[in-house]
Amino acid sequence: MSGRKQQPNTKIILEYIAKFPDAPARVLARKIYNENKAHFDSLDQAVAKCRYYLGVNGKQNRKDIATNQFIRAPRYNQKSLPESHSEKRQRIKLPSGIKRLGIFGDVHIPYHDNEALETMFDKFEEENVDGIYINGDLLDFYALSFHEKDPRKARFKDEIQAGREFLEYVRDRFPGIPIYFIPGNHENRFERYLRKKAVELLDVDEFRLDVLLQVGSTRIEYLPFRSRVSFGNYLIEHGDKIPGAGGVVPARTALMRMKTNVIINHFHKSSSSSQRIYDVDDSSSINGYSLGCMCELEPEYLEINEWNHGFAILHNDQGKISVKNYKIERGNII
Ligand SMILES: [Fe+2]
Ligand SMILES: [Fe+2]
Repeated sequence: MSGRKQQPNTKIILEYIAKFPDAPARVLARKIYNENKAHFDSLDQAVAKCRYYLGVNGKQNRKDIATNQFIRAPRYNQKSLPESHSEKRQRIKLPSGIKRLGIFGDVHIPYHDNEALETMFDKFEEENVDGIYINGDLLDFYALSFHEKDPRKARFKDEIQAGREFLEYVRDRFPGIPIYFIPGNHENRFERYLRKKAVELLDVDEFRLDVLLQVGSTRIEYLPFRSRVSFGNYLIEHGDKIPGAGGVVPARTALMRMKTNVIINHFHKSSSSSQRIYDVDDSSSINGYSLGCMCELEPEYLEINEWNHGFAILHNDQGKISVKNYKIERGNII
């Protein structure tokens, strides 16, 4: 949904390409990598970036490329593989400088629970969180759902307004720290609605959700839907993409499906699970957590459920994350 940012190592790649315009991609990548190791994950990453900016990855790459300044003409009569439409989820690593990350989701504005929210934000203050992550379903978008609707309930315009007020409130209460917001399946109702009812508006910037919510003016970072986000040794997922994870212990199913340390929202229920794995020379554990929600617990469409209010704080010790998964009952952390 939002444009890609140029990474610092891209600048290095482009400088070398400009300096050595005729060098083969792999030779150039090795030189770049050897002289700038601290800026790259691996030699392979440098090779991939060189190939990308030289436009030697086939036709589709040539179309997608961020700058076509250095694209090389294809070799005479060179055959190429057919155009690929496969998409890779964007990888996003949250900065390692964050030491205590407050994380919550499933607020479902305007069906949010202010008592639970106040309790959580008080705890964030008490624990001095230095980063906040809103893990999807911040807004409900009742009006955009394709289920049967009660026309007396929330209007789209009011939901957007309430969403803006919420983001302003969080920024106001936590000035100066990074705050991230990734859309969940409920925010995606907006895009699905456009696809079905107003396809002409899909690529118009003014109709992007982050623009409507004025996310930029609150200096909150909006991460594209379906990004693959990690913090230290944990993956953070909204959870809607994990098939069948809503069982008795959502964290358990998520852990078994993802097979790595993982945090999910989406199931509105706090749970945790741990599994020992056998490494080459030792064994260690992987852990999964599902977080509670911040919305009303007895919605009309599902009055009897196992939901609870909750959130988590992730403590970062040099990339090793430990998770405190909190439950809230009647305004108290339990
Ligand atoms: Fe949700
Ligand atoms: Fe969800």
